Amino acid sequence: MSLILGVETSCDESSAAVVRDGKEILSHIILSQDIHRVYGGVVPELASREHIRTIVPVVRQAMDEAGISKQDLDGVAATVGPGLIGSLVVGLSTARSYAWALGIPFLPIHHLEAHLYAVKLACPDKPFRFVALIVSGGHTELVEVRGEGRYRLLGETRDDAAGEAFDKVAKMAGLPYPGGPAVDKLAAKGDPSRYPFTRARLEKDSLDFSFSGIKTAVRYAIRDDPGLLSDENKPHLLASFQNSVVGVLTENARRAFRRSDTGQLALCGGVAANTRLRASFEEMAAGEGVPLLVPPPVLCTDNAAMVAAAGESAFAAARFAPRNQGAFADLPLPFEKKSINA
Ligand code: KG4
Ligand code: ZN
Repeated sequence: MSLILGVETSCDESSAAVVRDGKEILSHIILSQDIHRVYGGVVPELASREHIRTIVPVVRQAMDEAGISKQDLDGVAATVGPGLIGSLVVGLSTARSYAWALGIPFLPIHHLEAHLYAVKLACPDKPFRFVALIVSGGHTELVEVRGEGRYRLLGETRDDAAGEAFDKVAKMAGLPYPGGPAVDKLAAKGDPSRYPFTRARLEKDSLDFSFSGIKTAVRYAIRDDPGLLSDENKPHLLASFQNSVVGVLTENARRAFRRSDTGQLALCGGVAANTRLRASFEEMAAGEGVPLLVPPPVLCTDNAAMVAAAGESAFAAARFAPRNQGAFADLPLPFEKKSINA
Protein backbone atom coordinates (compact mmCIF):
# COMPACT_ATOMS: atom_id res chain seq x y z
CA MET A 1 0.00 0.00 0.00
CA SER A 2 1.35 3.40 -0.91
CA LEU A 3 0.05 6.92 -1.29
CA ILE A 4 2.09 9.06 -3.67
CA LEU A 5 1.73 12.75 -4.47
CA GLY A 6 2.79 13.44 -8.08
CA VAL A 7 3.82 16.86 -9.40
CA GLU A 8 4.22 17.75 -13.11
CA THR A 9 5.53 21.05 -14.49
CA SER A 10 7.78 20.01 -17.39
CA CYS A 11 6.10 22.29 -19.94
CA ASP A 12 2.91 24.38 -19.68
CA GLU A 13 0.69 22.27 -17.43
CA SER A 14 0.76 22.74 -13.64
CA SER A 15 -0.54 19.47 -12.31
CA ALA A 16 -0.73 17.54 -9.04
CA ALA A 17 -2.34 14.20 -8.22
CA VAL A 18 -2.61 11.70 -5.39
CA VAL A 19 -2.50 8.06 -6.50
CA ARG A 20 -2.94 4.97 -4.32
CA ASP A 21 -0.85 1.86 -5.16
CA GLY A 22 -0.03 3.19 -8.62
CA LYS A 23 -3.54 2.51 -9.87
CA GLU A 24 -6.24 4.42 -8.00
CA ILE A 25 -6.43 8.17 -8.70
CA LEU A 26 -7.74 9.89 -5.53
CA SER A 27 -7.39 13.39 -6.97
CA HIS A 28 -6.06 14.97 -10.13
CA ILE A 29 -5.71 18.70 -10.85
CA ILE A 30 -4.43 19.93 -14.25
CA LEU A 31 -4.11 23.64 -14.88
CA SER A 32 -3.20 24.40 -18.52
CA GLN A 33 -1.51 27.76 -18.90
CA ASP A 34 -3.53 30.09 -21.08
CA ILE A 35 -0.96 32.88 -21.25
CA HIS A 36 0.90 31.33 -24.24
CA ARG A 37 -2.14 31.53 -26.52
CA VAL A 38 -1.44 35.13 -27.57
CA TYR A 39 2.15 34.23 -28.52
CA GLY A 40 1.16 31.18 -30.58
CA GLY A 41 3.47 28.86 -28.61
CA VAL A 42 4.99 28.22 -25.19
CA VAL A 43 7.21 31.07 -23.93
CA PRO A 44 9.55 29.29 -21.48
CA GLU A 45 10.13 32.24 -19.13
CA LEU A 46 6.38 32.89 -18.84
CA ALA A 47 5.76 29.18 -18.26
CA SER A 48 8.09 29.07 -15.24
CA ARG A 49 6.55 32.25 -13.80
CA GLU A 50 3.06 30.79 -14.13
CA HIS A 51 4.18 27.58 -12.45
CA ILE A 52 5.58 29.60 -9.53
CA ARG A 53 2.18 31.28 -9.12
CA THR A 54 0.06 28.17 -9.42
CA ILE A 55 1.87 25.03 -8.27
CA VAL A 56 1.32 25.40 -4.51
CA PRO A 57 -2.46 26.04 -4.82
CA VAL A 58 -2.66 23.16 -7.32
CA VAL A 59 -0.90 20.80 -4.86
CA ARG A 60 -3.12 22.02 -1.99
CA GLN A 61 -6.26 21.39 -4.03
CA ALA A 62 -5.06 17.90 -4.97
CA MET A 63 -4.45 17.13 -1.28
CA ASP A 64 -7.89 18.54 -0.29
CA GLU A 65 -9.73 16.56 -2.98
CA ALA A 66 -7.89 13.35 -2.09
CA GLY A 67 -9.29 13.73 1.43
CA ILE A 68 -6.06 12.66 3.06
CA SER A 69 -3.66 14.47 5.34
CA LYS A 70 -0.07 15.22 4.33
CA GLN A 71 1.12 12.78 7.00
CA ASP A 72 -0.60 9.92 5.14
CA LEU A 73 1.71 10.33 2.11
CA ASP A 74 4.50 7.79 1.56
CA GLY A 75 6.43 9.73 -1.07
CA VAL A 76 6.41 12.73 -3.39
CA ALA A 77 7.26 12.29 -7.09
CA ALA A 78 8.08 14.98 -9.65
CA THR A 79 9.32 15.12 -13.23
CA VAL A 80 13.05 15.92 -13.29
CA GLY A 81 13.48 15.93 -17.11
CA PRO A 82 13.45 16.23 -20.02
CA GLY A 83 11.52 19.47 -20.37
CA LEU A 84 11.78 23.24 -20.04
CA ILE A 85 14.45 23.72 -17.42
CA GLY A 86 12.85 26.69 -15.62
CA SER A 87 9.47 24.93 -15.48
CA LEU A 88 10.98 21.64 -14.27
CA VAL A 89 12.82 23.41 -11.45
CA VAL A 90 9.58 24.84 -10.05
CA GLY A 91 7.81 21.48 -9.70
CA LEU A 92 10.96 19.73 -8.58
CA SER A 93 11.70 22.27 -5.83
CA THR A 94 8.10 22.24 -4.64
CA ALA A 95 7.94 18.44 -4.49
CA ARG A 96 11.37 18.17 -2.89
CA SER A 97 10.37 20.67 -0.20
CA TYR A 98 7.18 18.75 0.61
CA ALA A 99 9.13 15.49 0.84
CA TRP A 100 11.82 17.06 3.00
CA ALA A 101 9.32 18.74 5.34
CA LEU A 102 7.34 15.51 5.73
CA GLY A 103 10.42 13.32 6.12
CA ILE A 104 9.42 11.03 3.23
CA PRO A 105 11.28 10.05 0.02
CA PHE A 106 11.46 12.30 -3.01
CA LEU A 107 11.00 10.22 -6.17
CA PRO A 108 12.66 11.55 -9.38
CA ILE A 109 10.68 10.77 -12.53
CA HIS A 110 11.70 10.75 -16.20
CA HIS A 111 9.03 12.41 -18.34
CA LEU A 112 8.88 9.68 -21.01
CA GLU A 113 8.78 6.99 -18.34
CA ALA A 114 5.81 8.83 -16.83
CA HIS A 115 4.02 8.63 -20.21
CA LEU A 116 4.67 4.85 -20.18
CA TYR A 117 3.27 4.60 -16.65
CA ALA A 118 0.06 6.29 -17.85
CA VAL A 119 -0.45 2.97 -19.68
CA LYS A 120 0.05 1.02 -16.45
CA LEU A 121 -2.24 3.39 -14.56
CA ALA A 122 -4.99 2.95 -17.18
CA CYS A 123 -4.49 -0.82 -17.54
CA PRO A 124 -3.18 -2.00 -14.14
CA ASP A 125 -4.00 -5.66 -14.75
CA LYS A 126 -1.98 -5.96 -17.96
CA PRO A 127 1.71 -6.94 -17.87
CA PHE A 128 4.12 -4.00 -18.14
CA ARG A 129 5.47 -5.50 -21.34
CA PHE A 130 4.58 -4.00 -24.70
CA VAL A 131 5.74 -2.09 -27.74
CA ALA A 132 4.82 1.54 -27.05
CA LEU A 133 4.62 4.49 -29.36
CA ILE A 134 5.37 7.57 -27.24
CA VAL A 135 4.25 10.50 -29.29
CA SER A 136 4.34 14.03 -27.86
CA GLY A 137 5.33 17.62 -28.56
CA GLY A 138 9.02 16.83 -28.04
CA HIS A 139 9.31 13.09 -28.74
CA THR A 140 8.30 10.38 -31.18
CA GLU A 141 9.76 7.09 -30.01
CA LEU A 142 8.98 3.43 -30.48
CA VAL A 143 10.03 1.70 -27.28
CA GLU A 144 9.97 -1.95 -26.39
CA VAL A 145 9.05 -2.15 -22.70
CA ARG A 146 10.31 -5.49 -21.31
CA GLY A 147 9.42 -4.78 -17.67
CA GLU A 148 9.94 -2.03 -15.10
CA GLY A 149 12.98 0.04 -16.08
CA ARG A 150 13.77 -2.27 -19.02
CA TYR A 151 13.47 -0.35 -22.28
CA ARG A 152 14.81 -0.80 -25.80
CA LEU A 153 14.67 1.93 -28.41
CA LEU A 154 13.24 0.59 -31.68
CA GLY A 155 12.75 3.81 -33.62
CA GLU A 156 12.70 7.58 -33.17
CA THR A 157 12.21 10.74 -35.16
CA ARG A 158 15.15 12.07 -37.11
CA ASP A 159 13.81 15.61 -37.14
CA ASP A 160 10.54 17.03 -35.77
CA ALA A 161 8.38 15.26 -33.21
CA ALA A 162 4.89 14.39 -34.47
CA GLY A 163 3.28 16.86 -32.02
CA GLU A 164 5.61 19.59 -33.26
CA ALA A 165 4.47 18.89 -36.84
CA PHE A 166 0.83 19.13 -35.73
CA ASP A 167 1.52 22.42 -33.93
CA LYS A 168 3.45 23.94 -36.86
CA VAL A 169 0.87 22.96 -39.48
CA ALA A 170 -1.87 24.33 -37.20
CA LYS A 171 0.01 27.63 -37.11
CA MET A 172 0.29 27.71 -40.92
CA ALA A 173 -3.47 27.13 -41.04
CA GLY A 174 -4.05 30.07 -38.66
CA LEU A 175 -5.34 27.89 -35.83
CA PRO A 176 -4.83 28.86 -32.19
CA TYR A 177 -2.24 27.28 -29.92
CA PRO A 178 -2.14 24.45 -28.90
CA GLY A 179 -2.48 23.30 -32.49
CA GLY A 180 -2.84 19.53 -32.15
CA PRO A 181 -6.35 19.47 -30.66
CA ALA A 182 -7.49 22.18 -33.12
CA VAL A 183 -6.26 20.13 -36.11
CA ASP A 184 -7.93 17.01 -34.66
CA LYS A 185 -11.27 18.85 -34.49
CA LEU A 186 -11.21 20.47 -37.95
CA ALA A 187 -9.75 17.40 -39.67
CA ALA A 188 -12.75 15.37 -38.51
CA LYS A 189 -14.80 17.33 -41.07
CA GLY A 190 -12.35 16.86 -43.93
CA ASP A 191 -11.56 14.31 -46.62
CA PRO A 192 -8.23 12.64 -45.70
CA SER A 193 -7.46 11.58 -49.26
CA ARG A 194 -8.05 14.99 -50.90
CA TYR A 195 -4.37 16.07 -50.89
CA PRO A 196 -2.05 13.06 -50.79
CA PHE A 197 1.14 14.19 -49.05
CA THR A 198 3.95 11.75 -49.70
CA ARG A 199 5.57 10.11 -46.72
CA ALA A 200 9.29 10.27 -46.05
CA ARG A 201 11.19 7.25 -47.34
CA LEU A 202 13.84 6.00 -44.93
CA GLU A 203 15.91 2.81 -45.16
CA LYS A 204 13.75 -0.28 -45.65
CA ASP A 205 14.47 -1.81 -42.22
CA SER A 206 14.38 1.40 -40.25
CA LEU A 207 11.62 2.09 -37.73
CA ASP A 208 12.59 5.77 -37.53
CA PHE A 209 10.33 8.67 -38.44
CA SER A 210 10.76 11.93 -40.31
CA PHE A 211 8.08 14.63 -40.34
CA SER A 212 9.90 17.68 -41.69
CA GLY A 213 9.10 16.64 -45.30
CA ILE A 214 5.35 16.46 -44.70
CA LYS A 215 5.44 19.78 -42.89
CA THR A 216 7.33 21.45 -45.74
CA ALA A 217 4.97 19.89 -48.31
CA VAL A 218 2.02 21.51 -46.49
CA ARG A 219 3.86 24.85 -46.44
CA TYR A 220 4.55 24.74 -50.21
CA ALA A 221 1.02 23.59 -51.00
CA ILE A 222 -0.36 26.63 -49.13
CA ARG A 223 2.17 28.97 -50.80
CA ASP A 224 1.22 27.69 -54.24
CA ASP A 225 -2.52 27.75 -53.58
CA PRO A 226 -3.64 30.04 -50.73
CA GLY A 227 -7.18 28.87 -51.48
CA LEU A 228 -6.34 25.72 -49.51
CA LEU A 229 -6.91 27.81 -46.41
CA SER A 230 -10.50 28.72 -47.32
CA ASP A 231 -13.21 27.61 -44.91
CA GLU A 232 -14.19 24.94 -47.38
CA ASN A 233 -10.72 23.53 -48.10
CA LYS A 234 -9.00 23.85 -44.73
CA PRO A 235 -10.59 20.73 -43.17
CA HIS A 236 -9.50 18.70 -46.23
CA LEU A 237 -5.95 20.04 -46.01
CA LEU A 238 -5.70 19.23 -42.30
CA ALA A 239 -7.34 15.82 -42.67
CA SER A 240 -4.85 14.97 -45.45
CA PHE A 241 -1.87 16.08 -43.34
CA GLN A 242 -3.18 14.18 -40.30
CA ASN A 243 -3.79 11.10 -42.40
CA SER A 244 -0.22 11.12 -43.62
CA VAL A 245 1.25 11.43 -40.07
CA VAL A 246 -1.13 8.87 -38.58
CA GLY A 247 -0.33 6.44 -41.43
CA VAL A 248 3.42 6.57 -40.74
CA LEU A 249 2.97 6.26 -36.97
CA THR A 250 0.65 3.28 -37.30
CA GLU A 251 2.71 1.47 -39.93
CA ASN A 252 5.99 1.76 -38.02
CA ALA A 253 4.28 0.63 -34.80
CA ARG A 254 2.89 -2.40 -36.61
CA ARG A 255 6.34 -3.31 -37.98
CA ALA A 256 7.93 -2.77 -34.55
CA PHE A 257 5.33 -4.98 -32.89
CA ARG A 258 6.01 -7.77 -35.37
CA ARG A 259 9.70 -7.75 -34.44
CA SER A 260 8.97 -8.02 -30.69
CA ASP A 261 7.89 -10.90 -28.47
CA THR A 262 6.07 -8.70 -25.93
CA GLY A 263 2.59 -9.51 -27.32
CA GLN A 264 1.01 -6.13 -26.55
CA LEU A 265 0.87 -2.69 -28.14
CA ALA A 266 0.54 0.64 -26.34
CA LEU A 267 0.01 4.24 -27.39
CA CYS A 268 0.84 7.21 -25.12
CA GLY A 269 2.00 10.85 -25.01
CA GLY A 270 0.04 14.00 -25.89
CA VAL A 271 -0.58 13.14 -29.56
CA ALA A 272 -2.14 9.83 -28.41
CA ALA A 273 -5.17 12.00 -27.54
CA ASN A 274 -5.73 12.36 -31.31
CA THR A 275 -9.03 10.79 -32.39
CA ARG A 276 -7.79 9.56 -35.77
CA LEU A 277 -4.56 8.10 -34.38
CA ARG A 278 -6.48 6.20 -31.68
CA ALA A 279 -8.89 4.81 -34.27
CA SER A 280 -6.07 3.85 -36.62
CA PHE A 281 -4.21 2.00 -33.82
CA GLU A 282 -7.41 0.19 -32.86
CA GLU A 283 -7.90 -0.96 -36.44
CA MET A 284 -4.28 -2.04 -36.77
CA ALA A 285 -4.27 -3.90 -33.41
CA ALA A 286 -7.52 -5.66 -34.29
CA GLY A 287 -6.00 -6.70 -37.62
CA GLU A 288 -2.92 -8.08 -35.83
CA GLY A 289 -5.11 -9.71 -33.16
CA VAL A 290 -3.14 -7.99 -30.42
CA PRO A 291 -4.27 -6.27 -27.19
CA LEU A 292 -3.94 -2.48 -27.45
CA LEU A 293 -3.37 -0.47 -24.26
CA VAL A 294 -4.29 3.21 -24.60
CA PRO A 295 -4.85 5.58 -21.67
CA PRO A 296 -7.85 7.95 -21.83
CA PRO A 297 -6.93 11.32 -23.45
CA VAL A 298 -6.58 13.08 -20.07
CA LEU A 299 -3.77 10.64 -19.15
CA CYS A 300 -2.10 11.03 -22.57
CA THR A 301 -1.38 14.75 -22.41
CA ASP A 302 0.97 15.91 -19.63
CA ASN A 303 -0.47 15.19 -16.19
CA ALA A 304 0.63 14.44 -12.64
CA ALA A 305 -1.29 11.17 -12.19
CA MET A 306 1.16 9.39 -14.51
CA VAL A 307 4.03 10.94 -12.54
CA ALA A 308 2.55 9.59 -9.29
CA ALA A 309 2.07 6.17 -10.92
CA ALA A 310 5.74 6.13 -11.97
CA GLY A 311 6.52 7.33 -8.44
CA GLU A 312 4.87 4.25 -6.99
CA SER A 313 7.28 2.06 -8.96
CA ALA A 314 10.28 4.16 -7.83
CA PHE A 315 9.00 3.95 -4.24
CA ALA A 316 8.62 0.17 -4.38
CA ALA A 317 12.17 -0.17 -5.76
CA ALA A 318 13.51 2.38 -3.21
CA ARG A 319 14.78 4.61 -6.04
CA PHE A 320 14.93 7.75 -3.89
CA ALA A 321 16.56 11.00 -4.99
CA PRO A 322 19.37 12.71 -3.11
CA ARG A 323 18.52 15.99 -1.34
CA ASN A 324 20.28 17.96 -4.07
CA GLN A 325 18.45 16.28 -7.01
CA GLY A 326 18.53 18.65 -9.99
CA ALA A 327 16.45 19.03 -13.17
CA PHE A 328 17.66 18.26 -16.71
CA ALA A 329 16.44 19.82 -19.96
CA ASP A 330 17.89 16.82 -21.86
CA LEU A 331 17.61 13.45 -20.21
CA PRO A 332 17.72 10.33 -22.37
CA LEU A 333 15.84 7.23 -21.21
CA PRO A 334 18.36 4.59 -20.20
CA PHE A 335 17.89 2.12 -23.07
CA GLU A 336 19.23 -1.42 -22.88
CA LYS A 337 20.23 -1.57 -26.54
CA LYS A 338 20.16 0.91 -29.39
CA SER A 339 18.13 -1.35 -31.65
CA ILE A 340 16.15 -4.55 -31.36
CA ASN A 341 18.25 -5.97 -34.22
CA ALA A 342 21.60 -4.77 -32.92
O1 KG4 B 1 2.84 14.95 -23.94
P1 KG4 B 1 2.40 16.34 -24.19
O2 KG4 B 1 1.19 16.85 -23.45
O3 KG4 B 1 3.58 17.34 -23.90
C1 KG4 B 1 4.89 17.02 -24.26
O4 KG4 B 1 5.52 16.18 -23.55
O5 KG4 B 1 5.30 17.54 -25.34
O6 KG4 B 1 2.17 16.50 -25.77
C2 KG4 B 1 1.80 17.74 -26.30
C3 KG4 B 1 1.63 17.60 -27.79
C4 KG4 B 1 1.41 18.94 -28.48
O7 KG4 B 1 2.21 18.97 -29.66
C5 KG4 B 1 -0.08 18.91 -28.81
O8 KG4 B 1 -0.42 19.68 -29.95
C6 KG4 B 1 -0.29 17.44 -29.06
O9 KG4 B 1 0.48 16.81 -28.05
N1 KG4 B 1 -1.71 17.05 -28.94
C7 KG4 B 1 -2.43 16.59 -29.99
C8 KG4 B 1 -3.76 16.39 -29.51
N2 KG4 B 1 -3.77 16.71 -28.17
C9 KG4 B 1 -2.50 17.12 -27.86
N3 KG4 B 1 -2.10 16.36 -31.27
C10 KG4 B 1 -3.06 15.91 -32.10
N4 KG4 B 1 -4.33 15.69 -31.71
C11 KG4 B 1 -4.72 15.91 -30.44
N5 KG4 B 1 -5.98 15.69 -30.07
ZN1 ZN C 1 4.64 14.80 -22.40
